[in-house]
Amino acid sequence: KRIVILISGRGSNMEAIVHACRDQAWPAEVSAVVSNRPDAAGLTFAANHGIATAVVDHKAFGKGDAARAAFDQELARVIDSYAPDVVVLAGFMRILTPEFVQRYAGRLLNIHPSLLPSFPGLHTHERAIEAGCRVAGATVHLVTAELDHGPIVAQAVVPVLDGDNAQALAQRVLGLEHRMYPSAVRWMVCGELAISGNQVRHLGGEA
Ligand code: GRF
Repeated sequence: KRIVILISGRGSNMEAIVHACRDQAWPAEVSAVVSNRPDAAGLTFAANHGIATAVVDHKAFGKGDAARAAFDQELARVIDSYAPDVVVLAGFMRILTPEFVQRYAGRLLNIHPSLLPSFPGLHTHERAIEAGCRVAGATVHLVTAELDHGPIVAQAVVPVLDGDNAQALAQRVLGLEHRMYPSAVRWMVCGELAISGNQVRHLGGEA
């Protein structure tokens, strides 16, 4: 199986997936890492690990709906040149058009650093602390046209500790993400997810 990972920045989740894929000998490879930002740090990691990289710079497309559609079409063209079975968003900071999402329906995953449906969008950790939440966490979900919605594949929690600021909480959640995202991607790669409406079941037993 072939995996393409989309990033916009640091790419630490992408790194975790690359390592898990190799160390656990998944029946899969990360075929390419694609970024919408030429300066994404994760591109260096990918190149250093012999993985193909590509950049589709959203800034070259301008602004507005037509630009967004053109960007998504070019992104899809580049992704499809690697013929992926699974497409993974890992800190990819662009809103995708319904057409793009539809093209990869059922094989497009995202990770979001909150317990969805709480706190979709940005600044999740600030908002969780501000709301007085005692737990926070991360959600892996199938991507649908609505931002940070879509059937939930996996969720895990960490405590919010007294005195936490957003940075401390983000760090704790990120550690969790690095453990849960690779296993969720592996389930999808191995065909172990049964999707029925909003419900996703993992067929392979416990993670
Ligand atoms: C992660 O917290 C992820 O949940 C969010 O963006 C961050 C990306 O971090 N969507 P990295 O680029 O994987 O290090």
